[in-house]
Amino acid sequence: SAAEKGGHDYFMLKEIEEQPEALANTLRGHFADGRIVLDEQRLADQDLRDVDKVFVVACGTAYHSGLVAKYAIEHWTRLPVECELASEFRYRDPVLDRDTLVVAISQSGETADTLEAVRHAREQKARVLAICNTNGAQIPRESDAVLYTHAGPEIGVAATKTFLAQIAANYLVGLALAQARGTKYPDEVAREFRELEAMPAAVQHALGTVDQVRALGRELSDSKAVLFLGRHVGFPVALEGALKLKELAYMHAEGFAAGELKHGPIALIEDQLPVVVVMPSPKGRAVLHSKLLSNISEIQARGARTIVIAEEGDDTVKPFADHLIEVPAVPTLLQPLVSSVPLQVLAAEIARSRGYDVDKPRNLAKSVTVE
Ligand code: G6P
Repeated sequence: SAAEKGGHDYFMLKEIEEQPEALANTLRGHFADGRIVLDEQRLADQDLRDVDKVFVVACGTAYHSGLVAKYAIEHWTRLPVECELASEFRYRDPVLDRDTLVVAISQSGETADTLEAVRHAREQKARVLAICNTNGAQIPRESDAVLYTHAGPEIGVAATKTFLAQIAANYLVGLALAQARGTKYPDEVAREFRELEAMPAAVQHALGTVDQVRALGRELSDSKAVLFLGRHVGFPVALEGALKLKELAYMHAEGFAAGELKHGPIALIEDQLPVVVVMPSPKGRAVLHSKLLSNISEIQARGARTIVIAEEGDDTVKPFADHLIEVPAVPTLLQPLVSSVPLQVLAAEIARSRGYDVDKPRNLAKSVTVE
């Protein structure tokens, strides 16, 4: 009923709006006495100190949260992090031993590919930490340790609030590793945690774009395809934006690393093709920002319809943006938490305008329990 959906046309919009709460609940209780605590874990500090390599394995949207996490965990810990699709990981003989930490991310905790990846990692003696939204599910049961996301039940088949919660949980793991290994001073870990704690409010602010993005979604509903471009942490955001659009609107959508544009995707640009560009902050990564600006001007010159997600007050993008969607300024590594929000809304609204069931897209299951 409409009441269950919080007065919305579909659950997904309600779940998009629940993201500040999902984030706050996921972070709650994980910082005490100046330290990150992964209290549900059964990995000792010594285990974390011994880790010399991290694998993140997952499927679908959870995989995209892992791609985001790679940037943060490598930066904070100086450990190599590989993020891999669970269905590929187990069949390619990955190099694992007891000092490898495998982070298995799964909303449901029942995804067959991810479960098999966990089993394979444990057979090779790696330590497995599950990040899961479902209490007592199979993946946490078979892992050495678990960190629960507390996003609450997610009804929409396409993941939204659990994606943001997974990013936050991954970041807690990264900070716990940095703390145990001493690659970050305690006051730096505390500062990073405070920045994370400010994110529910920033995401709430980003939800201020909902009406604007819904209107844009209605305008774009007749498009044949949409491209998404990003760099650095904006690249996995672009992949996730494209996945949402495929899942919900059955539209051809592709995410690219903006730097690859000249190596192929630019050939796809044609008149009126909508291209969504996820801009980095002009302050945080100035070099990347200027490279993306030149990418947007190139695609605009070739007739693309540019939809730009940029930091509030970034005036430099205005001449290149046919549609500008402004999100609040946050530290670079945390940008996916705000820039993903308009992309979720865009996909849902395009799907609704095309007359599709946003919460139950065709051919998809909330949790895929066969390989
Ligand atoms: C299915 C769902 C996706 C989800 C993926 C992984 O494909 O439709 O929304 O991202 O499974 O699910 P998991 O429960 O492992 O996060």
